[in-house]
Amino acid sequence: MLSLRHFSLTFCKEKRSSKVSVRHLTHFASSQSNNVGNDSKALPQSNPSVSSYYKVNNQSAIDTAAGKPSVRLTPYMILYSGKSHDGSHLLKSAQYLWKELPVRIAHRIHEFRSLPFIIGCNPTILEVHELYIRAFNILNNHPVIRTPEDEAAYSRLLRNLLDDHTHVVTQLAAGFKECRKHIQNEDLVRQFCDRTLTSRLGIRLLVTHHLSLREEKPHHVGIINKSLRLKDLVEKWAEFTRRLAFHRYGKSPDIRLSGHVGSSFPYITLPLDYVLPELFKNAVRATIESHPDASESSLPSIHVTIANNEVDFILRISDRGGGIPHAVLPKVMYYNYTTAEESTEQRLAVDPLGNIIDASNPGAGSVSPMHGFGFGLPTSRAYAEYLGGSLTIQSLQGLGTDVYLRLKHIDSKHDAFRI
Ligand code: ADP
Ligand code: COI
Repeated sequence: MLSLRHFSLTFCKEKRSSKVSVRHLTHFASSQSNNVGNDSKALPQSNPSVSSYYKVNNQSAIDTAAGKPSVRLTPYMILYSGKSHDGSHLLKSAQYLWKELPVRIAHRIHEFRSLPFIIGCNPTILEVHELYIRAFNILNNHPVIRTPEDEAAYSRLLRNLLDDHTHVVTQLAAGFKECRKHIQNEDLVRQFCDRTLTSRLGIRLLVTHHLSLREEKPHHVGIINKSLRLKDLVEKWAEFTRRLAFHRYGKSPDIRLSGHVGSSFPYITLPLDYVLPELFKNAVRATIESHPDASESSLPSIHVTIANNEVDFILRISDRGGGIPHAVLPKVMYYNYTTAEESTEQRLAVDPLGNIIDASNPGAGSVSPMHGFGFGLPTSRAYAEYLGGSLTIQSLQGLGTDVYLRLKHIDSKHDAFRI
């Protein structure tokens, strides 16, 4: 194991080392003292900077909250807790969050602290860790919610916290990318990222649900759309991806829809708003990049099939983008695995007026790219599994790829998942 001193020296050579304070390093070394064997001697527990860090960060409160189990609800419970005319449902919902959020966030903080030293000290990962400590302090110090005015103030605070945490997934993806070279253990990254990202999804679903209960939206109870037409959502994200492709490549394959296109059922749109564009971007990018000389009209279409039954619903996305090679397939579900570096996107990128776009020029890069940090597939799979479903890939090497997204109905009597 590296000692703190050795680590500090190594770390100072990194470009962004100025972001790492001694406070961070001592905190990490201290929290990991059980893991670092003899090196822990480098960090006596009586070190004044460590104890002041713990005071500043409300350490014992975090430990107490982290020791409690979280109370997870089924969507069925959320849906049928319903609305009351006197607004008491809002008060009850806020009171549940008031108790629940500090516990869930404390669990996240513990997870950050149990990361190996070399990852936990990465400046970008530390930024996220500190965001959670900040959120914990704000939420844990919030007075009890008793009146509608308390609830309104609490809701404003939640709205701000949601905004403050908007970029957490991108930050984690960037942070892990930065320290990838130090990580041999793929399972460790997967476990941390799966748990952090799905727990975050759960927190954001609960908070957004509460905030949405305050608004009147037709066919909705909070975040639950009582009659979601999957076809509409698929079309929305297909169109979004096609527009992105036009910006990036000047062309896009058609995305065709078949199967149970008339089906509608209660569901939560939010996770699909992440997963669908990720899957469509992959299929569109593969189609275009495997047919570099094809004109728009000769690009093979992407076929999306919807299947619905009383237990779950399935989306199959079939492309003719050449498939995922045998040697690559086992790695595509690793966090940070991407073939973006080999991408022809930059070479092919033209703006709508036909000028070549230089993707490295920030002025030209206002449209989000077709690929990123290699987080799209593993995050989508983690979300699908969290929601009682799965994400599986069948590669027809040399021809194309079929991706199956399977999700359990939220009113399914069979083994409902919990948020
Ligand atoms: P990213 O899109 O940022 O690269 P993903 O996790 O979404 O990250 O995908 C990881 C990699 O898997 C991609 O870089 C690509 O090599 C491969 N991949 C994903 N979907 C497809 C597909 N439909 N066809 C071919 N390759 C794919
Ligand atoms: C997150 O988005 O990372 C959260 O945990 C949100 C919460 C602080 C309201």
